[in-house]
Formats: sequence, C-alpha cells, structure tokens
Amino acid sequence: MTSHYPVPQSFLSNAFLDKQRYETLYQQATLSPETFWAEQAEQFIDWQTPWESVLQGDFSDGRIKWFSGATLNVSYNCIDRHLPQHANRTAFIWENNEGDTCKTISYQDLHDHVCRLANALTSLGVAKGDRVCIYMPMIPEAAFAMLACARIGAVHSVIFGGFSPAAIASRIDDANAKCVITADYGLRGSKTIPLKHNVDKALADNDCVESVLVVKHVGQDIQWQQQRDHWYHELVDAQASDCEPTWVEANHPLFILYTSGSTGTPKGISHRTGGYLLYATMTHHYVFDYHPDDIYWCGADVGWITGHSYLVYGPLANCATSVMFEGTPTYPTPARYWQVIDKHKVTIFYTAPTALRALRREGDDYVTQSDRSSLRLLGSVGEPINPDTWEWYQRVVGGNRCAIVDTWWQTETGGIILSPLLGQLEMTPGSVGKPLFGVAIDVVTPEGKPVATNETGLLVLKNPWPGLAQTVHGNHQRFIETYLTSFPGCYETGDEALCDEAGNYWIIGRVADELNVAGHRIGTAEVENSLVQHPGVAEAAVVGFPHEIKGQGIYAFITLQANQQGSETLKQSIKQHIADHLSPIAKPDVIQWANALPKTRSGKIMRRILRKIVTGNTDDLGDISTLADESVVAQLKADIIK
Ligand code: WTA
Repeated sequence: MTSHYPVPQSFLSNAFLDKQRYETLYQQATLSPETFWAEQAEQFIDWQTPWESVLQGDFSDGRIKWFSGATLNVSYNCIDRHLPQHANRTAFIWENNEGDTCKTISYQDLHDHVCRLANALTSLGVAKGDRVCIYMPMIPEAAFAMLACARIGAVHSVIFGGFSPAAIASRIDDANAKCVITADYGLRGSKTIPLKHNVDKALADNDCVESVLVVKHVGQDIQWQQQRDHWYHELVDAQASDCEPTWVEANHPLFILYTSGSTGTPKGISHRTGGYLLYATMTHHYVFDYHPDDIYWCGADVGWITGHSYLVYGPLANCATSVMFEGTPTYPTPARYWQVIDKHKVTIFYTAPTALRALRREGDDYVTQSDRSSLRLLGSVGEPINPDTWEWYQRVVGGNRCAIVDTWWQTETGGIILSPLLGQLEMTPGSVGKPLFGVAIDVVTPEGKPVATNETGLLVLKNPWPGLAQTVHGNHQRFIETYLTSFPGCYETGDEALCDEAGNYWIIGRVADELNVAGHRIGTAEVENSLVQHPGVAEAAVVGFPHEIKGQGIYAFITLQANQQGSETLKQSIKQHIADHLSPIAKPDVIQWANALPKTRSGKIMRRILRKIVTGNTDDLGDISTLADESVVAQLKADIIK
C-alpha cells in the first residue's frame, strides 16, 4: 500500500511553485523550449555578451550547444554580482570535524580568497582551458579552488578525498592536468587521511603535473618536492585580492568529474559553463524553494556532483548562505548533525539515505534531544530511500512539520531531474516525483517501446536540457555509445524505473554492472580490475547485494592463483589492497573463494547468475543455455556466505 502525506501548509503558503505555476512553466518549456530557456537564462544568470542561438544540435550525435556565442564567468555569477548589495552576507558557515571551530566566510571574503588563488594559479602558469585537479578535504579552500579555476577559465577535476593513489593517478593522467591542489592531511571523524602523501604516490610516474599547491590544514609532517610543491598560504597570501574574470564562451568546459563506467575506466564527464550553471541555479531555487533568509545545508562532499551543483555552484549563484561540514554524521557523537542544525538554525537540509539509515540505527534519542524547529525542508539524494527511512526522516527528524524532496539525478544530468513538491500537495514516500520543466521522460522496454503505467522499464530522457553534460573528456565517441545509442533520439540514464497512475516516478536502481554503495556509484569493472592486480588473485567477479546501511554491499567471487590457499588473512590482504589502490569505499564486504566462475562459452562472466546466487534467488536462473559449465553454479551456491 502506498501512503501519502500532505505537504505542510506552512511550506505551501510561501512556496515559489504551486500546482498551476509548475504546470504553466512545464508547458511553456515543452511547447517552446528555446523561449523558455532564454527566459530562465535571463532571470538566473548574468551574461557578459548575449547568445546568438539558444540551442543547437540534438541527441543524434550529441554535439549540442547551449547559448552559443554568449560569454560569462561562473565566479562572477557566484560572487561579484552579489557584492553591491550583499558583500557582508555569509556565503559559507564552515563547521570543522571536531565541532570546536566554525568559520564564517562572507561574499566579500569569498571574493578576496578566490581572486588571490586565481592570481596564484596564473603565477604558476595555469591558463584558460588547462586542467587542475583538486583533491581536498571538506574545507573552504576546496570551494575557493573550484571558483578560482572558473575565474581564469581553467577546468577543474575534483577527485573525492577517499580515493587512493592509483585511482588518483588514472584521473590525473586522463585529464592531463597541469596542477594539483591538495592539503597536507584530511580529517574525517577519527581518521586522518594522508592526502599529500597520496598525491605524491599518484605522481610517481607522472609527466603532466608541473605544480602541487598544498593547504596546511592539519599541520603534520609531509614529504616535499622543492621544484614542484608550493604551500598554498605562502603563494596565495602574496597575491592581490582582485582578479579580472576571464569571460568564456557558454560552451567552454567548466569542469570534469569522473564517474564509474560499467566497463573500462571511469569516464570524465565534462560539463559546459553556461548551461550547467543555469540548470544548477534554477533547480536549486525551485526544488529547495530557496528563500534569501534560509540557512541551507547540503551534506555532500565536493568530490561528488551533489557537492558541485548544490554545495558550491547553485547556492552561490543564488547568493545563499550554506553550511559546509567537514566531519561525518556520527563523530564525535551520533547527535552531531542535529547539533549543527540547531547551532546554525538550518532551515533546509539535504543528505543521502545511507547517512539517514546509519543515524536511525543509533536510536531516536540523539535526534529528539535536539530542537530542529528551524527546519522546513528535508532533501534526499543518491539512492532509493526506502519508505521506512523516509517516514523516519519525516516524523522523527522533521517532526511532521517539514516538506521532503527525494531528488533523482546523475553526474551526467548536471542537476535535479525528478523531484516531488513541484507544486504537488502530497508527498509519496519512495517516489521521486515529477520531472523538472523542460525535461520529457519515458520508461521503455529494451526495444524502446513505452511500458504501461506501474510497469518497470528503462528510464530515458527525450530532449536536451541545459544541464546535460557536454561529452566524455577526450572521448566523444564513448559519450555517444554510453548514453545516446541504445535508444536513438533519447538519453539513456542506465536506471530502471516506473511511473505510477499519478504520474509520479519511482527509481528501482542501476541496470548495468554498476553498484551504488552508500550512495557512491562504483563500477564492477573498476573493482574487478583492481582485485586481479592483487598477487594472490587469478580472477574476480563482483556483484551487489542488499545491505542494511549502505543500500548495496559488494560481494566478490575470487578465484585464487594456483599456488594460493584461501584464508582469513588473505581476505584481509585483498580488502586492504582495494583500500590502498582504489578506495576504502570499494572494499568488498564479502569474499567467497570460487574454483571457477560461471561463464558463457565465449568466456564472459555471467554476473546475472552471480547476482541471483548472492540474493538466494536461484529457482529461476533465466536463460542459461550459453553457460559453459553448469556444475560451477551448484558449487558456488553451496559455498555462499550468508
Ligand atoms: C542513483 C548522484 C534513487 C541513480 C546525484 C542514479 C537515485 C545514480 C537517486 C547517479 C534517488 C540518485 N533515488 N536513486 N533520489 N538519486 N540515484 O552520478 O541510480 O553519483 O543513476 O549522481 O544514483 O549517481 P551520481
């Protein structure tokens, strides 16, 4: 039984969108998209010079241009244009890991920091179009770094601080980066992460990076390479606090962000300047119903797209006041989030289901001991939120007073595509609501035929919108093959979904060989490639399984080298290998030794069968006519680890 909850009256009475306004905007966007997007572009963005055309190109070859010929600068839009009236408004309230320091950064401060860093980058020879990798903890300098790149037209590639040297190296190489910005160490809960040391290891065989800029954050010792390394404070403090923005064409790349692929190496998703900024800004305004007196907190790390669009670019372009949080939800106490909400009177809070599940497990007392009366809107992103967790979020965290938005989108989409509360009067736990204006959606069969109401199919988006990524960095063919080929004329999301009779969408999950572990997309190929580099491993296949806190856990089937004996020590060594070479978030939760893996006659691993074995769903293995050796399946079933 699907339950419905009324959207609180207090929210509705002051919201930017009501049902009629949503429908009007949606219709305008559908009937004349170019007029609609031109109006949005005028409302939300300041352009230096106007565009010649709003939209060029389509999904046939993915060579799409938005606002062609127009020029703008993202850091100007996020900072300078606010200064005449709001120089003293707080841009960021930064809460440190321990909870004993809090810094406030006004828009004027932000301007000065960003300009100094932009000048510092220029002094290092970084110029328009050059790539800069940012591998940082959640400190204000991470946002300064992104904006400083944007100020001079350099293209940033933020690498999540939880990635290990080999993963960093491949991303730096693929982007052919000229400069890396990092910190000595990062802090996450009780852990200290040796960021600079990881960069040193990643750069061992590198010949593109000329300089490394290091923020002194924790203050412990690090190794130093005289020619290459620079202390951030030494270089930046010496610079002037103004820097003329570099005006770039609307389709100039703003950033690259790597996301896993179901096959091969991660893809460098490349976002354009103008369309991306417009889409992030417009969706931040409408989906979060952002008003100037709100205190907004997006808990995502800058290493992921949510941190890009809804911690940095969207909120700053809307002149918002945001909390930036260095720590983890449960450190030093599971009450930490709620304490931060009370301390700063947060009104809008955006987090991931995995954090909510972990906090819920700690018991309601941690939540209910706090006040939280400032909250009015709660958001969720990254993975399906099960109705139970939704109801807990609504009742215990929100005290039945808050509106809830479960937002669906992807690195590639640039901003939120599906969301409840777009003028609706009801919230439906587990559903991600309706499409944003200008986005046409369908759920189709593998042959591309629309499925019936309430039937599961593949989610496709049928027309371009300004937030959609421009290409895969250095490989446009891969962009076309991954997203635009299976369903000609449509963008393929890779998610399974359904649409109910009320027109609300529900997301089932990824269809391809990709996992969503604690809200992080992890390609099975990336984990398997890393596993087989362990000296004891001959072959490996990983699949997801339902995990109480993480949503999905990683189950690895491993065939050992002939001279190896399976043991607990070897399992630990394999897990550590993944943590060291790929990322601690990609460590398998379960390892099962397998003498052999189920393969097709042509030698392809049949993960579909492995998934069924892991979920105990082996009564119907589907079509196994191509399976080379059926006895393999029986053995794997017998050895399953519960
Ligand atoms: C999943 C994160 C269900 C989905 C913004 C998508 C979700 C992938 C939701 C993108 C949601 C994201 N409900 N599933 N509200 N939001 N997903 O690129 O499978 O890190 O394709 O972008 O996360 O993950 P990405």
